[in-house]
Amino acid sequence: MRFFNFEEDMYSKEQITSFQKETEHWLTQAKLFIEEKDIVKLISIIRFHEYRYYVENDPLISDTEFDQLYKILEKFEKDHPGFISKDSPTQRVGNSLIKDFPKTQHLVPMLSLENSYNEEDLIDWDRKAKELSGLSEIEYTVEPKFDGASISLVYENDILVRGITRGDGETGDDITPNIRQIKSIPLMAAFSEHHIQQIEIRGEILMNKSNFSKYNDSLIKQGLAPLANPRNAAAGSLRIKDTSIVAKRNLEGFLYHVSYVTYSKEKTKETILSHAAMLELLWNLGFKSPQKELKVVKGIQAVIETIYNFEKQRDELPYEIDGMVIKVNSLELQEKLGMTSHHPRWAIAYKFKARQATSKLLSVEFQIGRTGAVTPVAKIEPVQVGGVTVSSISIHNEEYIKEKQLKIGDRILIERSGDVIPQIVKSLIDTREGNEQEIIFPKNCPACAQPLFKNEEEAVWRCVNINCKAQMVERIIHFVSKDAMDIKSFGEANVRKFFDMGLLKDIPSVYEFDVQTLNGIDGFGTKSIKNLQEAIEASKTQPLHRLIYALGIRYVGETTAKTLAQKIHSVYDLEHMTEEQLQEIDDVGVKVAKSIHEFFQNPNNLQQIKKLEQLGVIIEGKKLEKISGNLNGQTFLFTGTLTQCKRNEAESLVEQQGGKILGGVSSKLHYLVAGSDAGSKLEKAKKIPSIKILTESEFLELLSK
Ligand code: IVH
Repeated sequence: MRFFNFEEDMYSKEQITSFQKETEHWLTQAKLFIEEKDIVKLISIIRFHEYRYYVENDPLISDTEFDQLYKILEKFEKDHPGFISKDSPTQRVGNSLIKDFPKTQHLVPMLSLENSYNEEDLIDWDRKAKELSGLSEIEYTVEPKFDGASISLVYENDILVRGITRGDGETGDDITPNIRQIKSIPLMAAFSEHHIQQIEIRGEILMNKSNFSKYNDSLIKQGLAPLANPRNAAAGSLRIKDTSIVAKRNLEGFLYHVSYVTYSKEKTKETILSHAAMLELLWNLGFKSPQKELKVVKGIQAVIETIYNFEKQRDELPYEIDGMVIKVNSLELQEKLGMTSHHPRWAIAYKFKARQATSKLLSVEFQIGRTGAVTPVAKIEPVQVGGVTVSSISIHNEEYIKEKQLKIGDRILIERSGDVIPQIVKSLIDTREGNEQEIIFPKNCPACAQPLFKNEEEAVWRCVNINCKAQMVERIIHFVSKDAMDIKSFGEANVRKFFDMGLLKDIPSVYEFDVQTLNGIDGFGTKSIKNLQEAIEASKTQPLHRLIYALGIRYVGETTAKTLAQKIHSVYDLEHMTEEQLQEIDDVGVKVAKSIHEFFQNPNNLQQIKKLEQLGVIIEGKKLEKISGNLNGQTFLFTGTLTQCKRNEAESLVEQQGGKILGGVSSKLHYLVAGSDAGSKLEKAKKIPSIKILTESEFLELLSK
């Protein structure tokens, strides 16, 4: 339903087609364009692609192609600094350190909303609104209640001039440099086309679920405590004083309310009459407003139905919401209803069932990981949180216990955000009875009784005893796991069982293991024994990167293992590399290089690799083929349908011979392999003389040379 009839959306169909065409030109013939007059156009092209990516979530070009455009602009601006404009996409790039965030007054105080928790609350609220307005039925909007950090943006003469936190509602912190790092928030928007001179917009800054979970993983990897929810992650990120770090957090902003506007002219036909129209205007100007999520309905029963339907899809949303917000759609009626001293009467929040619960901290167990890290795990009275029963919860490290002031016997508040592992939000200290006990961190390993050590830069205590059995079991579990050697039917429980039975003692023992001894043991029949035997055998030929990952070298995750495997022939090559040589490899920093080096200096580890080799595990990769590969340094792109092999097979054949696959046609491309029905990529490639166009047969011939 459209309430407000603009001439066109943010980008019309014609504009999209024209932007696409121009993008292609820039990607293929940038050299012809680099003149000052073209740069304004390039900025608008880049902004268009940012919008498609960050606001619409529907990019039209690959990341590599976007980077290419961006680099052209960057280079131009470097050569002509006088031409850098305030709204240039490069001006988001954070490299400034903020001293402090000046306190700034909001143009209009930031109010909070009245909360409702059930149908009765909503019916009651609707009844009052009807009484006050004298209407028998009211048109409402229903939209998500975003669970992030609220902010207020001010645009003056189309330019973003301020971004302020909620603060106490009257005054907040000016965090403009950080807001500029959020790519879905336009640095400039064409308000003047609607005669708007100054506008204050309210919204919420979020970290979406997938970025939150990546961020928490990275905290855990660094030995830091993860955050309880994406709201804290977003709020914390906005207060960072280094804008380059803020930029990396991938925050996004939803804008849902205009609190103040001044016009340069008499309002014309474009006068905005409804909340839905206001959101549409924001959307059309390039903002992420809840325009697609918004429902406009008549009467409170329809509101209730909408809320119930929406709640069912809550987990499928890419971001966290903690309820819905219901607003009176007509802005005139909103004005008439006005406010109480605390809340507007024209809006109400409906809160979903909490994903929080309280429980009691019963005891703490200290678990030893494969790197010897000691993780305290709280055993709690089982409690339901957001549909799952939680009975134990990681409390990460000693610092975390201190920071959260946790004690055994405490009542604790737990939160489970989406799919994220539940976390303790806090101890409910006021409910203490006096018999709660301090959590005492052990000085010795609970498994092998050797003293624990703590590195100064780390938050974790570690058992450094190489023979510690608890670590060994964890290392074997990691070695056989799905992403490592993938020995199906081993599984964590079986590894523990076989270890306790003395059938496994270290990693090589996986291949010395006499599966026949399982005969007659609970749950093991002839078939499962055969399957296990076959899985163990098959794992011997796993690719080199899996073996590197499976060895469990600290900081060497799957990606780093892949990079390393591409650079070496045999695992032993890593033994002979210096830390400096390791650091020359992409993705390998000081910490990772040090860890790899240390691993290979340890004779126990080398002995273990030797033994694996003797037991038939392949410890070599395909690097040698690559070095002598015909395609070293050559770039390829496949288009159309291949008939003699699958596209992914063809791509890996190229990679195996040292070639690289590109995401799109550009002057960097050496070969375009065109299958049948090849379309626009082929046309584009024909225009670039340096690209060689091959048929599938010619490609296969080239490979076999
Ligand atoms: S409207 C004057 N809409 O929830 C009314 N608020 O508890 C302005 N929030 O203060 C607020 N999603 O920080 C509105 N779609 C939405 C929202 C929303 C989240 C936040 C906002 C507000 C708080 C109320």
